[in-house]
Amino acid sequence: MRILSGIQPSGTLHIGNYFGMMKPAIELQARGECFYFIADYHSMTSLSDAASRRANSLNVALDFLACGLDPKTSVFYRQSDLPEVCELTWIIGTLTPMGLLERAHSYKDKTAKGISPNFGLFAYPVLMAADILLYDANLVPVGKDQKQHVEMTRDIAIKFNQTYGETFVIPESEIREETAAVPGLDGQKMSKSYGNTVEIFGDEKAVRKKIMSIVMDSRTPAEPKPDADKNLAIQLLKLVAPPAVAAEYEQRLRAGGLGYGDLKKALFEHYWNCFAPYRAKRAELAANMDYVEGVLRDGAARARNIGSGVLARARQACGLGR
Ligand code: ADP
Ligand code: TRP
Repeated sequence: MRILSGIQPSGTLHIGNYFGMMKPAIELQARGECFYFIADYHSMTSLSDAASRRANSLNVALDFLACGLDPKTSVFYRQSDLPEVCELTWIIGTLTPMGLLERAHSYKDKTAKGISPNFGLFAYPVLMAADILLYDANLVPVGKDQKQHVEMTRDIAIKFNQTYGETFVIPESEIREETAAVPGLDGQKMSKSYGNTVEIFGDEKAVRKKIMSIVMDSRTPAEPKPDADKNLAIQLLKLVAPPAVAAEYEQRLRAGGLGYGDLKKALFEHYWNCFAPYRAKRAELAANMDYVEGVLRDGAARARNIGSGVLARARQACGLGR
């Protein structure tokens, strides 16, 4: 089974990215052959600063490797090191109905927020489909917000196969219900674009300050809170603390007697400890950027081994070239 996923270098990675996508992706390394990549072409739809893109890409590489991506078993690469994906985007784009793209939630959300759309933003799902189809991927671990994009990939692949003959593998998404949408500090979905994130590798003081300033209601500490499971700090604690510890805090909050300040303090401590081992690994890797560059170079070569064959198959199927 081939497993594939990507992450955009459009900012600093947060615990929503980690629990929604990176952790499942890392655990899936035991179940199949994994292809993971830094979606730098995709980041061009929202970021137009070259230096930031370059720096973010290396930071994503460091974050992913520090959290447990194993470059010996997994193929880890930078999307733009394989421009073949752009050719495939064109090929499958000619079979992608406008209506399909017009229905994309992510496109509608972004334009509704006032982002003025460009061709790249509109074509975003086609590039994502090409990412997946180029490597014959079977399974795509993502957060819930990407589910529709994987469904579009399936539609496009099926249409291509019907039009030109069996060419592409039809992929499936894998979404973990419990971490499908990690809430941010304001209760909305945690996202780089909402300014409500807890970074995976944030600065200690800054993250403590952010967590301590989560807004709670005005009930007194003594009051029992029957809705304790809906409390944002409890929800985040369930991700970063051992289950028994999180359950105990939830119970104490429900019963009354636990103050929000103490709860937030506990949340910070568990967040900090949860990522402590990865923080040390990250520092080690950051001191050895030649190694990190080497991993990506090697990953691109291994990705090309598969991708060039699939692209040739697609070109052949639709009558391009000889
Ligand atoms: P962002 O919304 O912060 O820009 P991306 O779109 O780059 O995040 O998402 C990268 C990966 O992380 C995707 O698989 C996405 O589904 C997942 N992801 C992002 N935010 C969350 C979240 N709050 N909860 C769960 N998964 C998330
Ligand atoms: N669109 C994804 C996101 O924003 C990133 C991505 C690009 C991706 N290409 C992909 C994810 C292919 C899975 C498979 O999170």
